[in-house]
Amino acid sequence: MPHPRPTLPGSSFLFGGDYNPEQWDEQTWVEDVRLMQQAGVNAATVGVFSWSRLEPSPGTFTFDWLDRVVELLHEGGIGVVLATPTASPPPWFSLAHPDALPVTEDGTRLTHGSRDTYCPSAPAYREASTRIATAMAERYGDHPALLAWHLHNEYGTFCYCDHVAGAFRSWLQRRYGDLDALNAAWYSAFWSQGYGRWEEVLPPRRTQYLHNPTQSIDFRRFMSDELLQAFREQRDVVRAAGSTKPITSNFMLPTWNHLEQWSWGEELDVVSMDHYLDSTGPDGEAHAAYAGDLSRSWAGGRPWLLMEQAAGIIPLHGSRMAAKAPGRMLRNSLSYLARGSQGALFFQWRAPAAGSEVWHSALVPHAGEHSRLYRETVELGAALGRVAEAAVPPAEGPLVPADVAVLWHADGWWALEDGALPSQALDYSDSVRSVHRALWQLGFAVDFVRPGADLTAYRLVLVPSMFGMDDAAVAALTRFVAGGGDLAVWYFSGVADEHLHVVAEGYPGRLRDLLGIRVDEFLPLAAEEEVRLSDGTTGRVWSEAVETTTATSLLDYAEGPLAGRPAITRRDAGDGAGRVSYVSTRLDADDLRALLATLTADAGASPVLAAAPPPGVEVVRRRGADASYLFVLNHGDLPVTVTGDGVDLLTDGTAREGLPLAAGDAAVLREQAAGSPWSVR
Ligand code: GLA
Repeated sequence: MPHPRPTLPGSSFLFGGDYNPEQWDEQTWVEDVRLMQQAGVNAATVGVFSWSRLEPSPGTFTFDWLDRVVELLHEGGIGVVLATPTASPPPWFSLAHPDALPVTEDGTRLTHGSRDTYCPSAPAYREASTRIATAMAERYGDHPALLAWHLHNEYGTFCYCDHVAGAFRSWLQRRYGDLDALNAAWYSAFWSQGYGRWEEVLPPRRTQYLHNPTQSIDFRRFMSDELLQAFREQRDVVRAAGSTKPITSNFMLPTWNHLEQWSWGEELDVVSMDHYLDSTGPDGEAHAAYAGDLSRSWAGGRPWLLMEQAAGIIPLHGSRMAAKAPGRMLRNSLSYLARGSQGALFFQWRAPAAGSEVWHSALVPHAGEHSRLYRETVELGAALGRVAEAAVPPAEGPLVPADVAVLWHADGWWALEDGALPSQALDYSDSVRSVHRALWQLGFAVDFVRPGADLTAYRLVLVPSMFGMDDAAVAALTRFVAGGGDLAVWYFSGVADEHLHVVAEGYPGRLRDLLGIRVDEFLPLAAEEEVRLSDGTTGRVWSEAVETTTATSLLDYAEGPLAGRPAITRRDAGDGAGRVSYVSTRLDADDLRALLATLTADAGASPVLAAAPPPGVEVVRRRGADASYLFVLNHGDLPVTVTGDGVDLLTDGTAREGLPLAAGDAAVLREQAAGSPWSVR
């Protein structure tokens, strides 16, 4: 049974963000508090990168300035999310402990001068981290301003040094017991990689040619566990110091993926997420929805916290996202809240005057108070105040009811990072996101589920490109189907076991019987190649020589070497109550959406609204303690009218006779009668 965890305040949404008072004089702190109050900010995250100011020399702590900041915020009615600064060790640390600087795959030891310059396995780093976490917990653990602990920042730093090699070996010893089992799992007979002594086993450092894929995925799994262990050590000292506030560490929505988020989710009191839109257009809104659904799912369906988003420009790696259009900050924030976030926090409160992120947007931009961004910040604060009642979570039942679930696991991501796959265009994130995006466009609420989890709450479960599967994952899907659930599986799933060993006698060996098919050959498509299916649908990236055994073909390949062979198959299951479908190629977005419209309808899955809203309008239902709330976000270019039995908390307008929603506007409707019909036209 999971232990009861401390939770964030449920009576209102948190609003604010990363605050770096160490960059400013005390006069600016006073001004900051005034501006925060004026904007309705109730949460400031401090300490994230303050290590050199908090511990200017080993073991000497200078908390006086942070004391004054915390007091000022408290007097101003602003809560504190207190971060341990361990993502950025000070220069003295790396000079004192050169062995604690990270080493890259090719053996280069990095140095300080940026951030995240530490080896997560170095004893000196771990010790220094728990020492400062302990000191902070003892000093601020019961401060009345404290809302939550934010341990570290975005765990994800990798290292390949000897400390890491030692920790990796211990992890492997726990996983495999002995070298025979390791050699078997790593298939080390291939290319003469047999290990005779544990000392021979190394992280996947730079080598002559391709890496061993099982060694590589085990290293990713190990690194996630190693970082989690570093988190646990900080968490345990904070708890030991007596602080009872919720503890989190912020995830980053993976564009690269260093964490296995399901096991992390079990250890965090609150899952928190940093999310930066990846597109200026509507796909950015789909990306926000994806971040929200993943976060809530990793939090076990419970409330989570949006720890960082950008108010506008994000300058990263030379590419710059255009400033967010007016109103987008509000719509994005509501999208996260609708999906279970307990707040809308930002990176960052005040734009720095210099430094590596001088051009990163902020709630208070370089222009200061008299700016479009700060005015929108004030409006956002007011809006979050008006929708506060929706923050109170339901006593029971789901926060965001969903009939459809998508299988997600970091293993799927890591398996497809291998350099020797049959197609370099196979991309886990792309597969998962394309399915999620189509469901978002169709107006479905979506949960993500862990392989092996109980699936009985869902009508339809989707499995995009999960290459390796263990027994528990297969058993859970089999049980779900036997119980009458609908399942759809995409190409390159269930081909291998958890060690990435291909299962023989026809692909996808793990799922052959469940799907009622057998594939004897993969035919990856070249970059510009496409293949037409029998109804004109287009396939790209991938195709397979599918034979049906107990399934039937829904659509055949219509051209090329597979002409006349099944491309999309289906079989009835669960005594006729359910269906199992297989999709053997990558469909274009419109075709995928059409397929998912059919699969969801056949499964009896309900979209949020019975009649789909116009394109560009997003509707999400979040359940509260006494009512449920319909979030309607008009990302489109045209006005719409929302009609139904509810009152918009943002404007107090009733929707009974129709509530007009201009392009770019949003409404949060308290549903007066549960289940009453809604329309958006
Ligand atoms: C991350 C970090 C922040 C900042 C932003 C920039 O999410 O946590 O410190 O660097 O990225 O977008």
